[in-house]
Amino acid sequence: MANLEWGKLPFGYLKTDYNVRCYYRDGKWGELEISSSETVNLHISATALHYGQQAFEGMKAYRGKDGKIRLFRWEENFKRMERSANGILMQPVTKDIFKDAITKAVLLNERFVPPYGTGAALYLRPLLIGSGPQVGVKPAEEYMFMVFATPVGPYFKEGFTPIKIAVVRDSDRAAPLGTGSIKVGGNYASSLVGAKKAHDEGYGAPMYLDSVHKKYIDEIGAANFFGVKNNTYITPKSPSILPSITNMSIMQLAEDMGMTVEKRPVDIDELDSFEEVGACGTAAIISPIGEIYDIDKDKKYNFCKDGKAGPLSTKIYNKLVAIQYGDEADPHNWVEIIK
Ligand code: PLP
Ligand code: COI
Repeated sequence: MANLEWGKLPFGYLKTDYNVRCYYRDGKWGELEISSSETVNLHISATALHYGQQAFEGMKAYRGKDGKIRLFRWEENFKRMERSANGILMQPVTKDIFKDAITKAVLLNERFVPPYGTGAALYLRPLLIGSGPQVGVKPAEEYMFMVFATPVGPYFKEGFTPIKIAVVRDSDRAAPLGTGSIKVGGNYASSLVGAKKAHDEGYGAPMYLDSVHKKYIDEIGAANFFGVKNNTYITPKSPSILPSITNMSIMQLAEDMGMTVEKRPVDIDELDSFEEVGACGTAAIISPIGEIYDIDKDKKYNFCKDGKAGPLSTKIYNKLVAIQYGDEADPHNWVEIIK
């Protein structure tokens, strides 16, 4: 086991021992290669560098009380990466390569899978890029797939205490028929200005509204939004948000708990009526939101008045994390033990 302060890990990059790589050349994927280098050697004219032909995934490996290492719904990450690749005309990897690569990335870096009970996990970052050269705007003919692993703590330093969010209206992360619903780097580039605006105002992350009407809630930085009222879990339906695997899982758990689940456009004016609101994602897990500040309207919405997450968010969080770490039964077969 690596000698790290596991309980204090930020959500950041920390060097591990190995990463894995695979190349698509001459119309086929090659064998998976293991590397201990942190750098990649790329053609100066690679489409990833010029025209944003790249897609990534984010997932975690969790160590349970029993010492076993678990992956959570990796097939959903594979499917989303396939959709992302097709969405920007890249060659997708096969399911077998994806599985082999993520498994090797965990097992080769096993000493970096954080111990149970530290709140940390081993974050896996599958990455697919156009590596072949083009100067005209065209898809590459060669691709490179890699997975690196790095141990991480909570995305928001607050952990499971309420975060503060700012509504950003003067920049858009994605357009309805653009690439918002796939996980490509360009979306994150266009989210940086909004994130900076929120940070400059003293807020942890931006809330993006739909780019057409500026009326409906889209996403929160790199996480989906949800609200709870009248025993109902409500999350936005929009063509420009990334379908979160965490959110998909929470919707199921909320239903299992007897809550009603609604996926529909959520008007920002509805915020006043929510009993609890939060952000969810692999990195964010479930982050309760204590305050939403609409900068341009100078309006504040407050939740968690006692400084603590609400009861339903807490219940869903505990259930989700218990399944991920193997503390509770996994009725939907979401978890796969890899060692
Ligand atoms: N929304 C965006 C923009 C993201 O980057 C992420 C992170 O992957 C999510 C939502 C949450 O998705 P997931 O739960 O699949 O990690
Ligand atoms: C994730 O939740 O896995 C993400 O990818 C968030 C982010 C750091 C881009």
